[in-house]
This record gives sequence, structure tokens and C-alpha cells, in this order.
Amino acid sequence: MLDICCSFSTFRESTVEECKRRHKHIKKANNFLRLVTSPTSKAVLVYLFKKGVASEDQIQLVLKVEKISEILSQLDKLGLIGRLDSRFGKKVTNTYELTKRGRVVAYYLAAWKNSPLNDLEKFVIVNKLPPNSKVLDVGCGSCKTLFSMSKYNLDIGVGIDLNKLALRLARVLLASYDSKELEHLMLLNADAHFLPIRDQCLEVVICSVTLPYLFNEKAIAEMSRVMCKGGFIFLRVHPAVFYISRLFEDPPMGFIRSTAVLINGLLLHITGKQLMLNLFGRKFCEVFQTQERTKKMLKKYNVTVCASDPYTIIGFSTR
Ligand SMILES: C[S@@+](CC[C@H](N)C(=O)[O-])C[C@H]1O[C@@H](n2cnc3c(N)ncnc32)[C@H](O)[C@@H]1O
Repeated sequence: MLDICCSFSTFRESTVEECKRRHKHIKKANNFLRLVTSPTSKAVLVYLFKKGVASEDQIQLVLKVEKISEILSQLDKLGLIGRLDSRFGKKVTNTYELTKRGRVVAYYLAAWKNSPLNDLEKFVIVNKLPPNSKVLDVGCGSCKTLFSMSKYNLDIGVGIDLNKLALRLARVLLASYDSKELEHLMLLNADAHFLPIRDQCLEVVICSVTLPYLFNEKAIAEMSRVMCKGGFIFLRVHPAVFYISRLFEDPPMGFIRSTAVLINGLLLHITGKQLMLNLFGRKFCEVFQTQERTKKMLKKYNVTVCASDPYTIIGFSTR
């Protein structure tokens, strides 16, 4: 019998034994394919379905823990999973994990499934979105936010992201919906620090959990530059508690990474400066956001905050 092990989020464990030890509720499971019902794995399967390489029947079968081998071979061919031969000196057979590419795909698919618009954003969008707005989503990922907004009569919705795989997935997902409104959406591979957009031409700028990965001041300066007078900005951010809650996830790397982000965020909060970090050869400038510092930066670039909670900041341009 095949075993599947998803190396993503809470299912980062490498061996069946390790998973069973950690997840008491599956301890008694005779076969490990139960993990296929995790949202991440389902998302990968839904992606395969949308690409036409897996039928709905097959997905149903997988969820009922049957005929997994065909799906596994498809996932393998697409480079989304790989055979896990040995970990921690133990030999494991017939066990798979998501590859790095698979984890990226799964991440974006999960984001597509969970609507990224929260209640506060929905309220403001419904009440204040001017008709025929030009909207930009900075770090659009799977493009779910723009997709959700497309029904509000947009003139144009532009999504930009640095990750080409995210944009490819977004195109596949959008193409699977036959809707005229989606003709108004366009995706660009670009850097949020250098928006390829002229000054003061957009009514709405959205930046949903992308600011933590950017040089905050540079990104805010760019976003405010492209907003027209009275235009809105929606920032979804990560407060410090987000990283504190992750300190003990995935030790020891999770602890090292979250600590580095917390120190960088504290530095940003106190001085307004942010460092480019280098951990084990990976460069990143990730930080948490505080309301005070983010509002100060927005004010500097002529954006007045009109609503906020620890995870969301909404403002309009007074330039
Ligand atoms: C946490 S994801 C959020 C995706 C999406 N906004 C959502 O809410 O689901 C952050 C996104 O920002 C993108 N990103 C990171 N740095 C970027 C940059 N410098 N320019 C543009 N996009 C960037 C990543 O590729 C990723 O898709």
C-alpha cells in the first residue's frame, strides 16, 4: 500500500511514523493516504483537474483512498511531488512529499480557495468603490482578490507579481471561469518596488500580505505614487503576533527565521529602516508591520488612514 506524506504546513513531517507520532488523530489509521484529504493536497488535485490531467472521478477516488497511483504519477510528471527515499538516516519506501515547486503550487491554490477579502475590505469595497475603477493588486499571487473584485464593474484590474509560476497558475484558474468581467483583468510579471505604471492613475491599490516581503517604505512610496487623488489603498499586513505564533513551528528553522523577522520588524518600527537578511544563502527583507510605523509612512506619502485593525490598513490619497 502506498503512503503519502505532504511536506507542507502542519504536514511537514518526513516519515509516516513521524506524522503518526505528531498527529494523534491519525495514529490509528492503517494507511496513510488519509493525508490526501488535507486542504493542500486537495488543492493540488483540483489544479490537476483544472489542467485536465485528472478527472473529477479520480479526485473523488483519491479522497476515498483508492487508485492513488495514477494521481501520484501525474503529480510526479508535473514535478509537484517526489519520492522520499531516506530521511534522518531512515529508509522510507513508497512515500512521497511535495517538491519545492509542489509546495508553491499548493500554497497559491490554497490561497485561491480561501477568499482573501476580509469583512472590513468587503465593506469598504462595496460602499466606496467608484464605478469603472482602475485597480492594482500588488503581489497578486493566484489573483483571487482581483477575481473577487471583478464583479464590481472595474474598468481594468492589473495584478503584478514577481513569481512567474504564480502568474501562470492565476491564468489557468481565471481561464477556467467563462466570464466577460474577467476580460478586464491583466497580469504582469513586475517588481512591487518599481511599478511599471504611470503616476496618479489608479482608483484602488491592493497589497494583500505582500508588504511583509517588501522594503516597506519603498513599496508604500511606489503605491502612493500610482494612486489618483481620493484613490484607496488596502494593505493586508502581518502584525508581530503572526510571527510570534510561528516561533515554535517547524523547528529549528522556523524559530531562526521568525526571530530574524521579528528583529527586522522591531528595527523598522523603531528606526524606519529595514535590513536585507541572509539566512543560509537565502536573502529576504521580511518584517512584521506595526500600525504606528505603517501609518507614519503612509502619511509621509500623502495617504490618510480611514480604517484599520491589526491585520488591515485602509487609506485614501490626499495628494
Ligand atoms: C503571501 S503572498 C500573497 C498573495 C496574494 N496577495 C494573496 O493575498 O493571496 C505574497 C506575494 O507577493 C509576491 N511578491 C513578493 N515580493 C514581491 C515583489 N518584490 N514584487 C512583486 N511581488 C512580490 C510573492 O510572489 C507572492 O505571490
